[in-house]
Amino acid sequence: MENSATAIETTMQMFDVYHLFDIDITKASGSTLWDSKGKEYLDLYGGHAVISVGHSHPEYVQALTKQLQSVSFYSNSIYIKQQEELAQKLGRLSGYNDYQLFLCNSGAEANENAFKLASFYTGKKKVIAFSKSFHGRTSLAVAATDNPQIVAPINQNEHIVFLPLNDTFAFDNTFSDDVACVIIEGIQGVAGVYAPTIPFLQHIEKACKAKNIPLILDEVQSGYGRTGKFFAHQRAGIKPDIITIAKGMGNGFPVAGVMIAPHIKAKKEMLGTTFGGNYLACAAAIAVLDIIEKENLIANAQEQGKYLVSKLQNISKVREIRGLGLMIGIELYEPCAEVRRALLEKYHIFVGSSSNKNTIRILPSLAITETQINQFIDAFKSVIT
Ligand SMILES: Cc1ncc(COP(=O)(O)O)c(C=O)c1O
Repeated sequence: MENSATAIETTMQMFDVYHLFDIDITKASGSTLWDSKGKEYLDLYGGHAVISVGHSHPEYVQALTKQLQSVSFYSNSIYIKQQEELAQKLGRLSGYNDYQLFLCNSGAEANENAFKLASFYTGKKKVIAFSKSFHGRTSLAVAATDNPQIVAPINQNEHIVFLPLNDTFAFDNTFSDDVACVIIEGIQGVAGVYAPTIPFLQHIEKACKAKNIPLILDEVQSGYGRTGKFFAHQRAGIKPDIITIAKGMGNGFPVAGVMIAPHIKAKKEMLGTTFGGNYLACAAAIAVLDIIEKENLIANAQEQGKYLVSKLQNISKVREIRGLGLMIGIELYEPCAEVRRALLEKYHIFVGSSSNKNTIRILPSLAITETQINQFIDAFKSVIT
C-alpha cells in the first residue's frame, strides 16, 4: 500500500546535468528551427557540430524513412550490406580508400576503441594527449580529456600524459618506446577552437611512424567537411594510423566510426558492439555523404567560413578569430555568456560556448548561406556594441 501511494505522488525527473535553455523545438529545416509557439531561430551551432547537411534534409528523411519501413535492426552477427556501401563511400570521399572501418555509436566510444586498438597493436599502455583536449566522457576517453572536473576518481589513469599543444620540444622529451599511442584533435573544439600547427602535426606524424606507434586523429568535431577539407588534419598532408569520426557523420542519428590503417590488422572479437553499424545508422550516414557530395558542401564550408571571417575581421570588440571553414571561434575581450544570451533572446540565434569563457563557437550546417551569415553578423554587431 505504502509503495503504491509513493508511486502516485512521485514522478521521475531527469538527472540534472545540463545548463538548459527553456526552448521547446518542434520543427527544423536547414539552419532554421521553430519552437512550439512558432518562433523562428537561426541555428549556427548545429547541436554541437552535429547537423552537417541541415536539419530534416528531404533526402536524409527519405533515406531513414525507407530504411525504417524495410528493416531497422539486426545484430552484427549477420552481413549488413549497407555497412560496406558506407565504408566504400567514406573511403572515396575522405581519400582513405585503403583504410578499414569499425562502426560504433558516439565520439567517446570511437576514441575508446581507438585506444584499445592502439594498445592491442603495440602491447603498450602509455597515451600522449594534449592540454585542453576533449575526447569524450567514457573511461579512457575522459582520462585523456584535460578537464579534471569531469574525470571521476575511477577514471583517473596514470597512463595518460598531457603535453602542451604545438610544443615539439616537450613532445620529443616524452615520446618514448613505451608509448601506446598519441591522440590529438584535428582542431580542438571544446577548448575554444585551437588548431595544431602544420609543422607540429607533421612532426608528430613522423615521430610516430619512426617508432611504429599509432597516431590517433580525433576528427569527431573537426571532420566530415567542417573545416573545408574532409578532415582537418589533411591540411598538413599527414596520414594518421587511426581516425575517429562521429558528430556530422549522421546529421543527428547516433553513428560513429574508427578508420584504421591497413597495417593494423583485425582479429575476430577484438572489438564489438550491439548497435554500431545498424541499418538506420548506415542509412543516415550514407545519405549524409551523398548530400555532402551532391551539394558540394565541403566547398561551401570553405567559402562561407572565409566569408564569415572576413565579416568578423573589422569588429573592434573581437579579440581573435580562430579556426577553419565552418569551425570558428570568436574570442572577445570579456566573457561571452551575455552576448550568447542576447543573440538568442533578442535575435533568436543559437551559437555555442567553449571552455575558454571568452570564446563563442560557430559550428553551423555545412549548407549555411551568405544571407544567414549576414543575419548573424548584423545581430552580433548590435549585441556587442
Ligand atoms: C573532439 C571530440 N572528441 C570526442 C567527443 C565525444 O563525442 P560524443 O559526445 O559523441 O561521445 C567530442 C564531443 O564533443 C569531441 O568534440
